[in-house]
Amino acid sequence: MTKLPVAILGATGAVGQRFIQLLENHPWFEIQEVVASERSASKTYAEAVNWVLDGSPPKQVAQLVVKALEDELSSPLVFSALPSDVAREVELRLASAGHIVCSNASAHRMAPDVPLVIPEVNAEHIELIDIQRKKRGWTSGALITNSNCTSMPVTMALAPLLIFEPTHLNVVSMQAISGAGYPGVPSYDILDNVIPFIKGEEEKLVTEPAKMLGKLVGDAVLPLPLIASAACNRVPVVDGHLVNIAVTLAKRPSLDEIKAVWQNYTGSSIVRQLPSAPKHPVI
Ligand SMILES: NC(=O)c1ccc[n+]([C@@H]2O[C@H](COP(=O)([O-])OP(=O)(O)OC[C@H]3O[C@@H](n4cnc5c(N)ncnc54)[C@H](OP(=O)(O)O)[C@@H]3O)[C@@H](O)[C@H]2O)c1
Repeated sequence: MTKLPVAILGATGAVGQRFIQLLENHPWFEIQEVVASERSASKTYAEAVNWVLDGSPPKQVAQLVVKALEDELSSPLVFSALPSDVAREVELRLASAGHIVCSNASAHRMAPDVPLVIPEVNAEHIELIDIQRKKRGWTSGALITNSNCTSMPVTMALAPLLIFEPTHLNVVSMQAISGAGYPGVPSYDILDNVIPFIKGEEEKLVTEPAKMLGKLVGDAVLPLPLIASAACNRVPVVDGHLVNIAVTLAKRPSLDEIKAVWQNYTGSSIVRQLPSAPKHPVI
């Protein structure tokens, strides 16, 4: 099978590196282009990157020359791990030029015609792409986003509980320093400390789960009517966020019923066929 060439924007950053690690030996995709800032452009990836993951970058990617954002891209599929302020204009430009842009950045997540997806939870929201193309006059391009890193586990936990009609949500997060990218939080701030504020994070936890758990009705997603609040903390852990969730369920199921729906949750059937889909998305 011929693999689809892909480009990674923000390829030298913490998320860009994770993209590269996860796409190594992928059966469908091949990394053909890596893009970063002027600081990295024209260097080989190996020269430009400060690899923060285990091991070293895959050989095939290490020798690629890093492109600048202004350079022409030939890959039809683009994964974006750019800072949000940079992503805002660039992602629209690439989508309007015909690229399918899948973004980790928050810039366009809440735009009404942009799918915000966790594939297991709301794969059907991808249908928004038709509306997006019509509205923006795009032919082959599209912009699809994934969620904030704490909205994601919260939404995954809530998705199987929809049958019990969640009405209120309160989240307290304890988020690792890797979530702030590299070099991230100054060591003087985070060592021996908990920082009880992460700019913009609490708003995302209030809006993103409701959109992802919402229903596609006509041309738009009708958000789940959830009364939500959140408090986000940065804690001195390298990787892995922890979230405490309190949720009110109108149908008042027993603990055993809740455990059963979590255990049996497999998500959308189309998604289960994807090569990297976990067998049990909720453990
Ligand atoms: N870290 C996480 O766990 C996480 C989770 C979910 C979402 N996100 C989102 O994903 C995005 C990337 O986060 P990150 O943690 O990977 O950030 P990061 O480590 O700071 O990496 C930023 C990347 O963007 C590039 N870049 C910065 N400014 C640029 C510019 N003006 N033009 C072109 N490229 C530029 C950097 O290139 P150089 O190396 O050349 O400077 C680097 O490759 C952000 O929008 C973030 O909110 C992050």
